Amino acid sequence: MAAYQPANPESVFTYGAPHLKYGHGAADEIGYDLSQTGAKRVLVVTDPGVAATGNPQRVADQMTQFGVEAVVFDGSHVEPTDESLQQAVDWAREHGPWDAIVAVGGGSSIDTAKAINLMTTNPGELMDYINKPVGGGTSPVNPLNPLIAVPTTTGTGSESTTICVLDVLSLKVKTGISHARLRPTLAVIDPVLTLTQPAGVTAASGMDILCHALESYTARPFTSYERKKPEERVPYCGSNPIADMWAEKSLTLLSGSFRRAVRHGDDEHARGDMAMAATFAGMGFGNAGVHIPHANAYPIAGQVKDFHPKDYPADEPMVPHGMAVSLTAPEAFRFTFEAAPERHVRAAQLLAPNAGQPVDAAEFLPTVLVDLMRDIDIPNGIAAVGFEEGDIPDLVDGTMKQQRLLATAPRDVTEDDIAGIFRRSMHLW
Ligand SMILES: NC(=O)c1ccc[n+]([C@@H]2O[C@H](COP(=O)([O-])OP(=O)(O)OC[C@H]3O[C@@H](n4cnc5c(N)ncnc54)[C@H](O)[C@@H]3O)[C@@H](O)[C@H]2O)c1
Ligand SMILES: [Zn+2]
Repeated sequence: MAAYQPANPESVFTYGAPHLKYGHGAADEIGYDLSQTGAKRVLVVTDPGVAATGNPQRVADQMTQFGVEAVVFDGSHVEPTDESLQQAVDWAREHGPWDAIVAVGGGSSIDTAKAINLMTTNPGELMDYINKPVGGGTSPVNPLNPLIAVPTTTGTGSESTTICVLDVLSLKVKTGISHARLRPTLAVIDPVLTLTQPAGVTAASGMDILCHALESYTARPFTSYERKKPEERVPYCGSNPIADMWAEKSLTLLSGSFRRAVRHGDDEHARGDMAMAATFAGMGFGNAGVHIPHANAYPIAGQVKDFHPKDYPADEPMVPHGMAVSLTAPEAFRFTFEAAPERHVRAAQLLAPNAGQPVDAAEFLPTVLVDLMRDIDIPNGIAAVGFEEGDIPDLVDGTMKQQRLLATAPRDVTEDDIAGIFRRSMHLW
């Protein structure tokens, strides 16, 4: 194990989360909530698939009772790109001004709303705000408008986080915009809106929840960093007691409901637990951070060739975020085991309370993960989404660009380590 031995260990961690409203019917109260902010003209941001459920329009219609004018924009791209965000921002600038933004959809719509909110309140161009080294890494100078995030998937936790994830098409790289002001002011989690999620989306976005919980739980501890000055603090502190609590609870909820939500999408109890699991994991990883599976997911998604997953828009090849994250997770946790064996075992126990622990404890979490992935129809490794051995060097290059994420891993990660993880993730079973 590469032990981190800071000369002056960190003793402080931080916790941030939006105001939150959870429960059956919570989305019916958004008009009232907005009227309390004094908002008169509101943009509702969604994507075509979610718009087809009728929910975004229902949310918009209900606002009019409170004297709020609501306009629906349904042009969010599923997994936003720099181009799609630019188009959304241009549309919003042209049709504004707006007093507030409401995102109704999955991570794609919520992240599009974050970019719109940033770029309709602040000067400059999108590229100025994208994380370095891809973009300028500039901080917003002005406050943003109120943003209410209403997730319709059970996955990303974007309703609680400070990031907007995007694909920079010209560089074939996924990166983000990250700033505390991007965090939604209110998260409205109404499990009713998640009932229409197709099985393939429930499976992929659910693996995103699971990896958020597992990666933040096994992240490098906050005490393993050098002490920061107040002005140096970042949202992601490494694993810490508060984030741990959310991750553990999220794993327990997933253990009881994940398979059921995929197979019986109309089970309101399972959907309710999945919605809570997504939020809890978001509140955990949004403060602790994620590491190797997410770092690997970026090149897997960015370098896709011709894979078309079931239940996603068919017009473009894609490896959905949660699927991309999960494909190297079993191998990544085999690799990180030695840095914190007890955490890996505990996570496996929470996820599969009835499974016996294998003789080799390092196999416990990977085995439990693979069993679940088979059961919910996740593809069998990166070969099953179109990658070959010869693609590994390019995938490794893409992962090594995600240094911000790799720095949260509980042990040092070299190019060779990542190449080995990709090679052993070609086929998972
Ligand atoms: N900002 C963050 O903190 C964060 C964290 C993780 C991932 N992400 C990003 O979020 C995106 C993925 O988001 P996602 O997994 O939530 O899915 P998504 O928003 O991409 O939606 C996936 C598909 O499901 C459909 N859909 C969503 N809800 C539905 C519903 N209730 N009924 C019917 N269809 C529905 C959408 O139309 C779309 O076709 C990626 O771009 C990923 O990088 C962001
Ligand atoms: Zn994720």
